[in-house]
Amino acid sequence: YMVDKGNHRHFMEKEIYEQPEVISHALAHYVDLGDHTVETSICGAIDFASLRSLAISACGTAYLSGLIGKYWFERYARLPVEIDVASEFRYREIPLAKDQAALFISQSGETADTLASLRYCQEAGLKIGAVVNVKESTIARESDAVFPILAGPEIGVASTKAFTCQLTVLASLAIAAGKLRGTISSDEEKQLVRSLSEMPRLMSGVLNAIEPKIEALSRELSKYKDVLYLGRGTSYPLALEGALKLKEISYIHAEGYAAGELKHGPIALIDENMPVIVIAPFDRFFEKTVSNMQEVAARGGKIIFITDGKGAAASKLPTMETITLPNVAEIIAPMVYSLPIQLLAYHTAVFMGTDVDQPRNLAKSVTVE
Ligand code: G6P
Repeated sequence: YMVDKGNHRHFMEKEIYEQPEVISHALAHYVDLGDHTVETSICGAIDFASLRSLAISACGTAYLSGLIGKYWFERYARLPVEIDVASEFRYREIPLAKDQAALFISQSGETADTLASLRYCQEAGLKIGAVVNVKESTIARESDAVFPILAGPEIGVASTKAFTCQLTVLASLAIAAGKLRGTISSDEEKQLVRSLSEMPRLMSGVLNAIEPKIEALSRELSKYKDVLYLGRGTSYPLALEGALKLKEISYIHAEGYAAGELKHGPIALIDENMPVIVIAPFDRFFEKTVSNMQEVAARGGKIIFITDGKGAAASKLPTMETITLPNVAEIIAPMVYSLPIQLLAYHTAVFMGTDVDQPRNLAKSVTVE
């Protein structure tokens, strides 16, 4: 059916703003928003209780949501996760056994590398789960369990709402898996689901609050040729996603790095010509990330600090700009922090004058290996 941009300039902008609503839909499907519980039946044919490990593979932004999912499955369900980009997964000759399951994440459900990786796991006798947006897709059809992300049609080539809906589904599955495996208490379950349920309202607030500041910052950012993103914990895959988004649509060279790896390479590049975007909620990694930021500041690097009220108060370092978000529970930080990351890429691309919804050389769905 027809999808239009409404009163937005681009589909990407519209899709960024749709996130609170589509995430509500996804949440209503996976968790009980009244009781703050999750039914283990959402896991369908994947018997998380008896799994030895989970293999995840995907491409592009979907791969990065899987990387965040890995942190959750391991932390909340104590389930080891193997993850790789789909184009490498099946060449690693991973010893696969039937007490593993495989999860494929794909907005379109048609990505050739992801589908090939799925068939490879199927041949090895693994149960297959698919986290997809398009329920009628090939990947969905060939899976034992389908986990729809309910994001609605995504038109912009650079994925935004599909990413945060994938995260919402993965977080719900990780909690359900934790429940099945007896690795989270019912108190923890309630706390986690309550945090998830607060997400749409928090995200609406953030979208309204940060746009003017991000727009001004994007004008500055569009003057640079290289940008580095840093993060630790689940903010590390988000740093990768931030860099991917920026390079895809603004064509500015960007790299994401684990904050702790700064000293093993990228620190050599730090000068006043490469802004460093640090994603650091005030979590259990905060102090360590700030010490990495200190190393950047000491070398004349310009810092764009994306943090929360507590983080902004705790760091005394000078920054080019500080984007302050509300203090949020750890499990929803990746979704909430996606918003400044997406808007920064979006507005920078608008200032650069690129074709935001149809960036050069990229396709929405890649059906060749
Ligand atoms: C393309 C798109 C990306 C997307 C990736 C995987 O590269 O430009 O936005 O993340 O494919 O697509 P999928 O449909 O499998 O999620």
